[in-house]
Amino acid sequence: MAFYYVKKTKIFSVWFLGRFFKDIITPRMKTQIIGTIEARNLLPPFFENTDISSPRFEEALKDVIWGTDFITAVIGPGGCGKSVLLKIAARYFGQYSMCIAPTGVAANNLNDPTPLTPLTIGATTIHKAFGIKEVESLRYFQMPMDNPNVIKMLARKEVILIDEISMVRPETLDMVLHQVYRASQVKGSLIRVICFGDPLQLPPVYKNGEEVRFFFDSYHWKTFKPKVHVLDSIYRQSDGSFRQILNRIRMGEADDDCMDFLRSRVSRSIPEGALVLDPRRDGVTARNNQCLTSVSGNKRFTYVPEITERGETKGKPDDFQKEKDAEILELLECPPAITLYEGQRVMCTKNIMGKGVVNGSMGTVTILKEKGVGVLLDGKEKREVFIEPCRYELCETSDRPKISAMQIPLCSAYAVTYHKAQGLSLDNAYLVTDTLFSGPSGAGMFYIGVSRVRTPEGLFLSEVPDRSRIRANPRCVEFVKEAEERA
Ligand SMILES: Nc1ncnc2c1ncn2[C@@H]1O[C@H](COP(=O)(O)OP(=O)(O)OP(=O)(O)O)[C@@H](O)[C@H]1O
Ligand SMILES: [Mg+2]
Repeated sequence: MAFYYVKKTKIFSVWFLGRFFKDIITPRMKTQIIGTIEARNLLPPFFENTDISSPRFEEALKDVIWGTDFITAVIGPGGCGKSVLLKIAARYFGQYSMCIAPTGVAANNLNDPTPLTPLTIGATTIHKAFGIKEVESLRYFQMPMDNPNVIKMLARKEVILIDEISMVRPETLDMVLHQVYRASQVKGSLIRVICFGDPLQLPPVYKNGEEVRFFFDSYHWKTFKPKVHVLDSIYRQSDGSFRQILNRIRMGEADDDCMDFLRSRVSRSIPEGALVLDPRRDGVTARNNQCLTSVSGNKRFTYVPEITERGETKGKPDDFQKEKDAEILELLECPPAITLYEGQRVMCTKNIMGKGVVNGSMGTVTILKEKGVGVLLDGKEKREVFIEPCRYELCETSDRPKISAMQIPLCSAYAVTYHKAQGLSLDNAYLVTDTLFSGPSGAGMFYIGVSRVRTPEGLFLSEVPDRSRIRANPRCVEFVKEAEERA
């Protein structure tokens, strides 16, 4: 009966079967059914226009929706539809899915509606979803592995979708997988984890001298040996020769044609509206200050952070106190005093629940008030939100009492780091190339920059990088080649 129903009816039937008979249909039945259905019928409402003509995309779509493995991965070059596939799964599973990404910008990219994917899916950062404080994330060994609140929340889900997996540290992935596994035990049925990303894009952030490790180095990955789908059709760029050049840069094999093309894209000035990508944070700050001159005549207001809990160091501020305050703000990763101008481009640096604003949301300042800032958010909807000071806090530990502060979570956004640009699709980008990272953390960095733009005409370079800076990590190349052979 179920087979007849699937074969005879279109779109709604499969969606309906999957959703409402999820507990009755066994993995074996799923495998049998999946062979009889068209992938198009798996597309949830609003996603009917997705192109699924590529066999690899179709196969990955089927596995993402109906698969039965604990861990599954979908990899492929920039712009091949990994995040689109993630959004399809998020829409299909609705409240039974959780979407997470290693950075706020990557999460925001998932939430940003596009004509193809018109709905925001409530993605957040791994840190936010799993309750890891920024400072504490550096000390995993101090963290309890089981977080009862997180496990309770996970037990209500069927699938956990992780984007930009290349930037996730193996220990972070192990922490996520461990908790999902425990939640599956509590729930009594398997909660799946699907990882999306490109191993040849940016690796996780490590300090200088630390060994760079990847998601596929995690304990769970090695134990479960997940199936890896490799997508191969690129949608972000339609120009065939530009795609080929990007692919060569991705593998770290820039030939003479690539170098000629890059030479033709060098620009002395920054074109209007182009987002500047700079490898270093201080470069981003300098560029943002430089761009501020265009709005420096407008109304301005300075927002000073207010320390609300300072532990034992109470009392009247004196010089000693000021030093302590700076230390507290640094520990809290609370932004220092910031002067904002009307008309200034800004980026939010925190998730603000209830307002649809996440760490990485960009917009333009419309109004400045003592209590907060009006921001017209980028995107199709042109929504205006009023952003008030947010709380930055760290709970009490054995060596430190509870500390907290309030500050407006906004920063200037004419330029971003390459790390923050991962996952974005841009019309125009100006790449600062003279300071590309040289160590292992610089592998994939140039590729991230060039693959953000939709057309070759939208790409501008400060200078042609040295061939030695157009690099891919050999371990990641090996991982991708192996996955491609198996696909
Ligand atoms: N299957 C598809 N059908 C039609 N358009 C698509 C499809 N997949 C992707 N696109 C288009 O390509 C753009 C880039 O896709 P997406 O952001 O999913 O790429 P990605 O693989 O996640 O890239 P990155 O590695 O840079 O994150 C989308 O905004 C969308 O417009
Ligand atoms: Mg993506």
